[in-house]
Order: sequence, then structure tokens, then C-alpha cells
Amino acid sequence: MAVKILKVYNTDEDIYEEIIGEVQEEVPEAWPENKELKIIGKRIPRINAPEIVTGEAKYAYDIIIPGMLVGKILRSPYPHANIKNIDTSKAEKLKGVKAVITYKNTSNVRIGRDPIFNTTVKYEGEEIAAVAAVDENTALDALDLIKVEYEELPFVVDPEEAMKPNAPKIHPQGNIVRGRPSVYSRGNIEKGFNEADIVIEETFRTPVVHHSQAEVHISVAKWEEDYLTVWDTTQGVFRIQSSLANIFHLPVNKVRVICHYMGGAFGCKLSIRRHTVYAVLLAKITGRPVKIALSRKDDYLAGGNRPSSIQQIKAGIKKDGTLTALYQKTVGAVGAYPGSAGVTTPLRTLYKCPNVKTEEYSVYVNAGQSCAHRAPGHVQGTFALDQMIDILAEKTGIDPLELRKKNYIDRDQQSNLPYTSKYLLEAYDAGAKEIGWERRNKIPGSGQGRYKRGIGMATQIWWGGGRPPAFVNVKINSDGTVNVLSGAQDIGTGTTTIVAQCVAEELGIKLKDVKVTIGDSEVCPYGPTSGGSVTAPSMCPAARAAARDAKNKLLEVASVILKSNGKPLDIKDGRIFLKNNPEKSITIKDVIGRSRVGMILGSGAREDNPEGYAVNTFGAHFAEVEVDTWTGKIKIVKYVAAHDIGRVINMLTAVNQIQGGIIQGLGFTLSEERIINKNVGRMENPDMCNYLLPLAGDTPEIVSIIVSKPDNLLSHTGNKGLGEPPMIPVLATIANAFYNATGVRIKVLPMTPEKVLMALKKI
Ligand code: MOS
Repeated sequence: MAVKILKVYNTDEDIYEEIIGEVQEEVPEAWPENKELKIIGKRIPRINAPEIVTGEAKYAYDIIIPGMLVGKILRSPYPHANIKNIDTSKAEKLKGVKAVITYKNTSNVRIGRDPIFNTTVKYEGEEIAAVAAVDENTALDALDLIKVEYEELPFVVDPEEAMKPNAPKIHPQGNIVRGRPSVYSRGNIEKGFNEADIVIEETFRTPVVHHSQAEVHISVAKWEEDYLTVWDTTQGVFRIQSSLANIFHLPVNKVRVICHYMGGAFGCKLSIRRHTVYAVLLAKITGRPVKIALSRKDDYLAGGNRPSSIQQIKAGIKKDGTLTALYQKTVGAVGAYPGSAGVTTPLRTLYKCPNVKTEEYSVYVNAGQSCAHRAPGHVQGTFALDQMIDILAEKTGIDPLELRKKNYIDRDQQSNLPYTSKYLLEAYDAGAKEIGWERRNKIPGSGQGRYKRGIGMATQIWWGGGRPPAFVNVKINSDGTVNVLSGAQDIGTGTTTIVAQCVAEELGIKLKDVKVTIGDSEVCPYGPTSGGSVTAPSMCPAARAAARDAKNKLLEVASVILKSNGKPLDIKDGRIFLKNNPEKSITIKDVIGRSRVGMILGSGAREDNPEGYAVNTFGAHFAEVEVDTWTGKIKIVKYVAAHDIGRVINMLTAVNQIQGGIIQGLGFTLSEERIINKNVGRMENPDMCNYLLPLAGDTPEIVSIIVSKPDNLLSHTGNKGLGEPPMIPVLATIANAFYNATGVRIKVLPMTPEKVLMALKKI
């Protein structure tokens, strides 16, 4: 297999890739099925769990350096204002304050083309100034002493309001990002609607929701002469390294970014943010290390969020259940700076339909900037699409599961390429069996009494195939233990553990003899930013290839010592032996000790994905809910998730991802919502008391089922991603189950008790 060298042209519009070279790599043969393997596919506790649960693990916040200062950020209390002047003199004079930065003294520092402070602030929480002081209280006192003269400007926080011609302009070009919608079409949408027996139109809405990751955004910066080290809460140490090298005009080898442990991100830590630049700049000015940790409130205001959506869908279907046309028009608020509120990929790809058109409007509002959030767009889009499928099922009198099966397709409809693997039909069957699909109400809402039960389902599609570049190095030490250096980060998913598993399996050694170093741009070879569910499918093949490379070298040395005369060798439990004469053997430790090679080094790279195929993950969720028609509370009685992710590397961490995704999805469905007071443009719930996250008591029984076989067309480890898929179908699954229970549809999230009672006409 060849690794392709790409040249990428990045214009404002599109990215063009051109292949400018190829590197041949030895690619190991595909692993056999999990049952023939020793470590892969088993339930393996995280190898770093003891450090994490005992508090030994060093997260960015735990970094303490002698002389370190605390940085704090002053933020705008207004949603839109010109800054007429800033007077920092009193703050600078306060004892213990070491530096203050504002737009006045930082105009030479830019993130790309953007300044690090704006003189017109566009949302509540936008940065105005930053200070570094000897301790937190002094830094906070200094913020109070900064005098800012604001000229308040008209603002708009609602995307539909923002699209009106007379709305306050947030950017000179207007409030629609790029000035126009993002449009897709295939087939002939008018012809499709004409061919339909039934045409229906519905509108669905989802609010802005937040990542609410356990660990807020934190950066610690330290300069030693012109060498910069940053401990960062990031999903991509290499991306932050290159951003900082650009911003501070440093060679890449003078910037080290470290993220050994991460307390969650879900997409809000994908790229450089201003607080990191402030920490680096303040450290440079003061000559002392600086730590900046956002408060929980700052994290809600400025740390990123998922765009809202208003989704109009028009669907045409024949009486026999054949979809003839799908049209989706969407509007979403991306906050005050550029972002994408696109949600239409599921509608374009999930169900077979020849005539499709989508139009997506991303709209500026005076609120915190949105960013990626666990399966961006797909979660919102599936909420609308998979309710629409249920509505169509009812209109045609076809069972909702049967209708989905009828519109199943074995290829990607945008590229017309076949999938490397697709086990969605298996997911439908396994999930339906586990939930007892036949138990659902034949007539929705027909149950009697206070508590009404119902069963619903929805489908998921996502990418998650992984890709190059991703590298791993393996060192076999003189005592037979192994160090693994892996460029990706472990953002809480268990990357450290699965990388170790791949190496241990390939080398035939025990997991406890493998130590993995991850998330360090200086000592680790390059790895991808951990987003898009690419980490496991990118890193596992690289890890196994590195172990294979080391193993080949090890066996070569051993063959000399064992005088094997070209007879094949193998390794088991740390011992190398002749395959046809296992008595003739030597330990790994002795090979390296007696040969005096010092150690053995192996390196591995992720090979390219196969040409001519689309790589996607699939899943089907089923839930039984119980609606209390007196209180409006929705209880999840049982939740079933059946997923196609290729090979399972670690059943424990896989189930962990499924459970986490479902719980996060339940929060989105039932309670989470950014509330902005339209009169003053301020967020009313920027804290974990009023922003309602799901709690342990809200967590239902969850049955996780993996239906797939290894995807050997994709890679020799055969695994696809699972970080994002489990969140995608939750919203529609619950909404459809709610409809089956009550005969009423809620098309606006979250489905709070109040909304439920209103829908049931109880209030
Ligand atoms: Mo993800 S939302 O690409 O971290």
C-alpha cells in the first residue's frame, strides 16, 4: 500500500488536494477475528486509570512552576459595544500585578489575520484585557481597576431577527456568513415532488447547547530564552504547536505543547483560542510562567457552543414507501464570529433518495462563537430527519423500521462510492430484538392512565474512518519492556490504552510491559488532532505497524542468536521461539542484552485509505420511554444502541463511548439550552446550576451492541471511530418514542416538562 503525499491548496471557498508523491510502506496483513487475539477486543481497563482516579495524573491545571503568575481576563458585559478607551493605569499600579494587555499594546500580535483584542466587542464575554499577577485575588482585583469606556451598540441574539434587513449589522458584510447559504442538490427536486403520492412539510428547532466538559479551557505558558513550552487543554498538540509558532514567529522546534491528560473537550478544544495566546504573551512580557484557567462562567460565555438550528424539511414519498424527494432549508446561529451551522449531511446521505436539495444559512448573532460539538450538525440534522421518517411512516401506513429498511442504500449518494463496510441492517435487527419493537403502540398514545409508554427509534451515519498522517514509535528496551510514543492526545476516550493494546498484541507481550507517552509535540511523532472520531482508526494501524517494524528487527537479531537458518520465528509471552521447534527459544530481554544493540526502535505510519470507497459508521438506537402526563417528566425506561464500528479494539472503552454519547444526547433532548435574555443580550444560565445537564439519576439502563465485523478494506486493524456516533440518533429516538407514547410530537428542543405539558394540552 502507498502513503500519498498531498499538496493542499486552501482558498476561502474550498480545499483542493493534489497528489504529489507516494511512499510505499509495508502494511501488515489484517488481524484475524477478535476471538483469535489475546488483547484486542477484550474488556481492558484503562492502563492509566490508577493515575487518573488517585489524582496523580497531571492535567494542565495541576502544573505548578516556581514563580508562576496567574492570568485573568476582563470580558465585555455588553453584547455589542465600541470601546472608546481603556485606562489600565490603576490596575498596573496595584501591588503584585506584573502585566496588563489590551488592544493598545498588542496590535502586533495576530491569530491569522485577526487581532487578539477587538475595539468593537460583539458578544457578552468577549475579551477586553488580560492581566498577570502574583495570585488569583490580585489578578481579579486588577480586573476591577481597569476602566473601560463603552459605547453600547444595538444588538441581535435571535438568528431569524438577525436575517431581517433592518437588523443591527454584526459584520459590515451583513449577518449571513459568507453572504449566502451553502447549497447542495442532486437529481431534480421538482420532478421528485411531482412523482410523490404524499408530500409533507415540517419545521424542527434545536437550541444552542454547550460542551460543558468537566475540564474548562486552561493554558500554562513558560519561556526559557526563546524556547516556549505550553501545557494546554487541547485536542491537537501539533495544531497548537504550529499555531503558536506562526503567531510568535518561532521555529516549530522551539515550541513544545503538552497535553498528557484531558478532562473532556467534545470539539471545543480543536484549535488555538485567545486565552492561550494571552498566557504566552503575558509570560513573555513578565519573564515568568503564566497560567490562565477560564472560570466556568467564562467557559460558557466564550468557550464555544453548538449552533442552534431551525430546520424546514419537505419530503415526498410514494405509497409503497419509496422516497422521491427531500428538501431541507436550515438557519442556525453561529455566534458573533465565523462558524458553520450546517446540519444537512444526514438528509443527503442516510436514506436512499434520488432528488435532494439543501440550503443552509449560518447566521451571526451577538453571542459567543460556536464551534464543533460532538458530531457537529449530524445530531441536530438527525433530530429533524428521523422524526420526518416516522411521520412519513405513519402517513404511508408502513412500520417505521420497515420504511427505513426499504430506503437502505449500500453506497454514499454524494460520491456514488460503495462503503468499505456497512452493518446497518444488522443494527436494525439487533436493536429491534433487544427493545422488543413489536411491543410498541400500534396506535400512538393509545395507552391509558397517568403514565404512558412508547417505543421509538432512529438511525445514525457519521464518518470516522481515520486517515494519515499518524505516526507511532516503539522502543523495546534491554529488559524487554516497551515504550510507545504516540502523537495523538487522549481526550478522555482511552487512546493511551488502545495504542498499548495494539503494540502488546503485535509484539506478543503483556500489556503491563507497555508504557505509552502521548500528547507531547516534542517527544512524540506527529499525530492527528483528536476530532471527527478519527483517533482510534488513525492511531491503531500506526501503532501496530510500529510494533511490526520493531518485531521484524527483533526477530532478525534473534535469528542470528538462535542460529535459526532462516526458519520462521514467533513471539509469545515475551519469548521468541522457532515455530517448528518451540523448545529453541530466547526471551526478548536476552536478545537485546546479548546482542548489545541497546534497544530496538520501530516506527509505523497510518497507511492511506482504500481508493474508490466511502468510509462511514452506522448505528440504530431504540428507546422505551414513560411519560408522566401529570408532571410532564419523561423517563427513559430502557435504551438500546446498536453500532457498526468495524472491529472493537477495547469493549470497555467502546461501551464507555456509547454510554457517554447517549447521556450527552439525553441532556440535549430533555434539558440543555443556552438561554439569552433578548432584552439585554446576556446569557442567563452560564453555570452548572442553571444549565441543566443530565445527572446520574437521569441515566437509564443502556444496552450497547456492536454488530460489525472488522473492516479489513479500511485498514489492517479494521476499526472505525466511535467518539461521535452514539450521540447522533438520541434526540430523534426519544422524540419518536415520546410520540409513540402520547400521539403528540414535540419538534422544538429541549423537551422540558413544561413543553410536554403544553403539548399534552395540560397547561
Ligand atoms: Mo469533534 S466535535 O471533531 O471533537
